[in-house]
Amino acid sequence: MWHYKEDILHIESTPVPKIAAEVGTPIYVYSLQEIERRVHAYQQAFPNALLAYACKANAHPRILAHLASLGCGADVVSLGELTRALDAGIPPEHIVVNGNAKTDEEIARALEVGVLAFNLDAVEEIPRVEAIARELGAIAPVALRINPGLDLHTHPHLRVGAVGSHFGIPPHDVLRAAEMVTASPHLRLRGIHLHIGSQLTQLEELQPTARLAARWVRTLREHGYKVQHINLGGGLGISYEGGPELTPTDLVAAWHPHLEGLNVHLIVEPGRWIVAHAGILVVRVVQVKRAWGRTFVAVNAGMNALLRPALYGARHRIVPVVRKPGEIYADVVGPNCESADVLGRDYLLPPVEPGDLLAILDVGAYGRSMANTYNLRPIPREIIIS
Ligand SMILES: Cc1ncc(COP(=O)(O)O)c(C=O)c1O
Repeated sequence: MWHYKEDILHIESTPVPKIAAEVGTPIYVYSLQEIERRVHAYQQAFPNALLAYACKANAHPRILAHLASLGCGADVVSLGELTRALDAGIPPEHIVVNGNAKTDEEIARALEVGVLAFNLDAVEEIPRVEAIARELGAIAPVALRINPGLDLHTHPHLRVGAVGSHFGIPPHDVLRAAEMVTASPHLRLRGIHLHIGSQLTQLEELQPTARLAARWVRTLREHGYKVQHINLGGGLGISYEGGPELTPTDLVAAWHPHLEGLNVHLIVEPGRWIVAHAGILVVRVVQVKRAWGRTFVAVNAGMNALLRPALYGARHRIVPVVRKPGEIYADVVGPNCESADVLGRDYLLPPVEPGDLLAILDVGAYGRSMANTYNLRPIPREIIIS
């Protein structure tokens, strides 16, 4: 995906300085080939599953269109994402709707276009979806998003399947939810959904999803409810250090013993694993300050363009676009008026000067999609290398 040729960073075969010179900085650069390689890895591991790509990771129209052409569906959480996915050519019957605060407008639109399923987030959501379906004379296909209340080791902000999280239906409400759904002529119970967290890098953390889902399928069936599909969410993590990482094949191996013989259709909603490595953010050094015994390399984009370091303490690799001899230790900081606007501390870099380019790696997921206009800075442009 990225490599150095004669000390110049390239994305696939395109030199990054050329892109920066032609388009300016800061800029997100994505490799479509890398995304395709990762989709194929998922499809090979899960040949019979629907790959409902989590649009929240990166909803660039061309990326979504390419994923549509590869046969992917989509997981959407807003009217904006639903519209993007449909415009990109993803068929509505391959789209699942998530979200803990779906608005009436979002529910109605998703019903009108005929999505595959609403992942219900609360018993309180059931009468709302039912009322809109009744008004439209429709039957809403639904799955119960179960929050199993797990203890996970990922960042607290990414731990959505834990006790106290505001996502999903807690275990004690699941049978009541199933009863409410099946009692309504305007709702149809299709399946269950579990997404326990993101950036999970240990199989022991990912494996419970399948074990718990299988247990819930059996319990629901014992109570007479039909369950056609299980949606095991996303969450497969990547290595932000460039080290070894889990693959979809590892995931299948961990899940297989639990899913065997269950006779359900499988849906998965990966986001990060598909797109994270496929993107870099190219920034330009504005100023190099020496103070307090440290070197601060201030660049022209920070938490406005890439929120993850400030939000999660995430550490991305930062590399020079043009390699040169010499070494300094530096803190790479953004231009925004917040002390949290630090892209990372203690990076080993060449002796950079104002005007030099740096590349922040593995930002294809939750990079541009979380970008904002803080301090009235424009959202970085995006370039796709195809
Ligand atoms: C319901 C749901 N599905 C899928 C995902 C995608 O997760 P990831 O990017 O970790 O694969 C998320 C991420 O927050 C999510 O909330």
